[in-house]
Amino acid sequence: MSATVEAVTPETTARANGPPMSVGDAIRTRRTIRSWLPDRPVREELINELLEAALWAPSACNMQLWDFVVVTNEATRQQLEDAVPFATQAPVLIFVCYNTRFSEGSFAHIQGASASIMNMLLQGHSLGLGGFWQATIHDRAKLHAVLHLPDDVEVLATVLFGYPAEQPGAPARRDPSHMTHWEQYHPRPRLPSSPNPRDWTLGQVADYQQARIRAGPKYNKPIRSEFEVVAQFGQEALGQENPRVWLDLLPCTGLYLEHLLPAAPDADVHFVELTEQTAQFTQRRLPRLAQYHHYDGRIDLPDASVDVATCIFRLENLPPPERLRLLTEAHRVLRPGGALILTHISRRSYFALMQPIRWLMGRRDVQYVLGTDPSLGPFVPLAPHVVTRVLTDVGFNCERTVRHFPLPPEDEARHRVRALRPPLAYAQYPIQTLYGLTRPLHRLLEPWSKLQLAVYRK
Ligand SMILES: Cc1cc2nc3c(=O)[nH]c(=O)nc-3n(C[C@H](O)[C@H](O)[C@H](O)COP(=O)(O)O)c2cc1C
Repeated sequence: MSATVEAVTPETTARANGPPMSVGDAIRTRRTIRSWLPDRPVREELINELLEAALWAPSACNMQLWDFVVVTNEATRQQLEDAVPFATQAPVLIFVCYNTRFSEGSFAHIQGASASIMNMLLQGHSLGLGGFWQATIHDRAKLHAVLHLPDDVEVLATVLFGYPAEQPGAPARRDPSHMTHWEQYHPRPRLPSSPNPRDWTLGQVADYQQARIRAGPKYNKPIRSEFEVVAQFGQEALGQENPRVWLDLLPCTGLYLEHLLPAAPDADVHFVELTEQTAQFTQRRLPRLAQYHHYDGRIDLPDASVDVATCIFRLENLPPPERLRLLTEAHRVLRPGGALILTHISRRSYFALMQPIRWLMGRRDVQYVLGTDPSLGPFVPLAPHVVTRVLTDVGFNCERTVRHFPLPPEDEARHRVRALRPPLAYAQYPIQTLYGLTRPLHRLLEPWSKLQLAVYRK
């Protein structure tokens, strides 16, 4: 194992700083750290303490069927940059591995390895280190190649350590009474597991969002090429409207709105959200959003008081009656001649075709959806003519529509393919060439594009 040695300073460890932490305090004060001091390497001795703590975790039959691959080397971390998020930022990466051949079915290997991760995080915390349990792996094939992992060994998670460069507050926890069942399971209102918003109420969408928001914004992984066309379209449209009063409908994490705001620097920006907690989250990210209005089917703004409304990939998350209500309200608050800038994912696209395939492959739950803000919960692509009909019924005229991505953009294709097992994952390499070859088809297939971006006029 290699690690850079540093001098012990009084502030090196929390343990050196004061009295020992109780287990309860350690559990409550540990936070996920995603930013580390770049010039504070971690001594090998401390890394060994983390690994020793891992070994004291319980494991099925005490078999300790885990492996820890520790990476501190700068060059290796650089190699892993595209494969594992934060690989170059954290001084220490511990890849917690399990062997897929043992205890399949009971998941005992995963349970043991998870317990070892928790031990490391708590030990790290008591040593003054900031740890991060990260399940995301962008490129499994590359990770396996760089670490020389055999095919029957999987990486469960990357645990990243370093000295913290941030002090995040504690994300809220759920009320224990909402999830504790004494003596037997008591049915109580639960969130639907169906990914179709038709099976949800607006209140349930709000509850789900709130839970996702607790996890922080790190889950937002939009497809870059899609993100760019949405930002460009929105900025151009807003630039032309030059609104004085702008209303965004349900920005949630604010991922897209963040990139639209500079297009109307003088506008007074209002937004509606489903819960106070989600709104606070959005406002922390975008302090310019001073004017929050709670949305419960009504927008608390006078008639004809808004110049422009934006609705970026939001209709797809709402139960159908709520789509109509939101658009009716948007129409009411817009001034005559005002614009609604709306984007949605089309049901007449390859994306929608892939949904039954995902369903057949067993992915039938609420999932993070690639392409739009993945924190939003239930999601269904919408037929363009249905969206236009609802908007026309409400009183809008469609002024302009732009469509993008009749075939998957290159980065989406690569992302999906590299998640597969080798040798299928190797198909990621010729994707750029394949993509170039299909380009002449794009114009022909345009009506079946995934992204529909439009300006509607009141
Ligand atoms: C199994 C597991 C996987 C996680 N994966 C990620 C991840 O991929 N990206 C991320 O930013 N956070 C990840 N986290 C961290 C959680 O977001 C974090 O624990 C949660 O928001 C609570 O914050 P806290 O740890 O500070 O209390 C993961 C946590 C666990 C337990």
